[in-house]
Amino acid sequence: MYRRAGELHQINVMCEQSLLRLAAGGQTVRRITPGRPGSCCRRSSGTARCVPQASGRSVALPKRGIKLATNIQEKYYLPHIDYRRGSPHLSHPGLYDRLIEVLRGMIQELADQRMPLRVLDVGAGHGGFTELALAMGCEVTAVDMSRPSVDELRRRFGTNPKFHAVYDPDGTLRDMDDDYSLIMFVSVLHHIPDYMSCLKMACQRIASGGSLLTLQDPLLYSRHKTAHRVDQAAYLAWRLGQGNLSRGMKTRLRRIRGILDETDPGDMVEYHVIRDGVDEEEVLSFATMEFAEASLLTYWSNQLRLGQRLGDQLGLRDYFGIIAKGYGSGLA
Ligand SMILES: C[S@@+](CC[C@H](N)C(=O)[O-])C[C@H]1O[C@@H](n2cnc3c(N)ncnc32)[C@H](O)[C@@H]1O
Repeated sequence: MYRRAGELHQINVMCEQSLLRLAAGGQTVRRITPGRPGSCCRRSSGTARCVPQASGRSVALPKRGIKLATNIQEKYYLPHIDYRRGSPHLSHPGLYDRLIEVLRGMIQELADQRMPLRVLDVGAGHGGFTELALAMGCEVTAVDMSRPSVDELRRRFGTNPKFHAVYDPDGTLRDMDDDYSLIMFVSVLHHIPDYMSCLKMACQRIASGGSLLTLQDPLLYSRHKTAHRVDQAAYLAWRLGQGNLSRGMKTRLRRIRGILDETDPGDMVEYHVIRDGVDEEEVLSFATMEFAEASLLTYWSNQLRLGQRLGDQLGLRDYFGIIAKGYGSGLA
């Protein structure tokens, strides 16, 4: 993975300025007023940009390809974080069951083909999807950039001899094997600035004939404007009920104004907010090139329970997954 010098692109990016501050003092970073030069990232035509520094130097957050900065995922996914909070795919049973069924079907198909059931779960979190793969008898390697999450994974599944957990702080997957029959990214691609490079590199670790499953990434906002607006409105209603209202409102206001606080992992960890979703067509076209068959699954996902029901009934779609089978027999 990312073997060539200078090719280390992962993954979770902060503006250079923030990095220096974090490196210098960790938590003692200066809280910056939104919009002040040199402080925040401002979105402009779909891509976040840092406001020029007071010195006249500006640091851009490119769409992808920036060099490794710091492990924002770990700064955000601290011990005791509840992954279900704000995660519709984990907290709404109906949605969870639908997505789990997709995974179940893929594992069953691999079993029917007598492929060795070796699964790599990238960004496993607390194992919301790891659990099913283990229950179906797979050997599962769960990898995550957050050490507290890896510790929790080991606590939950560590006695299972078919379970392995790997802490991968730079998200390069460098220590992984290269013969997995299934690689899955559930609710992970949208955290990665250069998700296409990461996907391409990850797929090189799939055995011939193996599968790729991605789930729970927001569709590109600009291609699905109405659904995105409905999603945002319902999200806001959900956020109002979550406590710490003033912080929540400040975050919303900053986001509405297209300003992101680069010192706040909460602003930077959900990278789709910066780049306005994940380009489902680009991911699908990559999968079509590399796999014998690839399909796009689109569905509705919203934090608010009522919002989930309404969106489902209206047939809205704001999230997607990619189901790809037969690695190595694509159009490429
Ligand atoms: C929203 S959580 C999803 C967790 C789990 N897959 C689920 O759906 O319950 C995203 C997780 O991905 C991890 N992560 C983000 N980028 C990663 C990368 N490049 N490699 C490994 N883990 C990553 C984060 O640390 C976090 O635990």
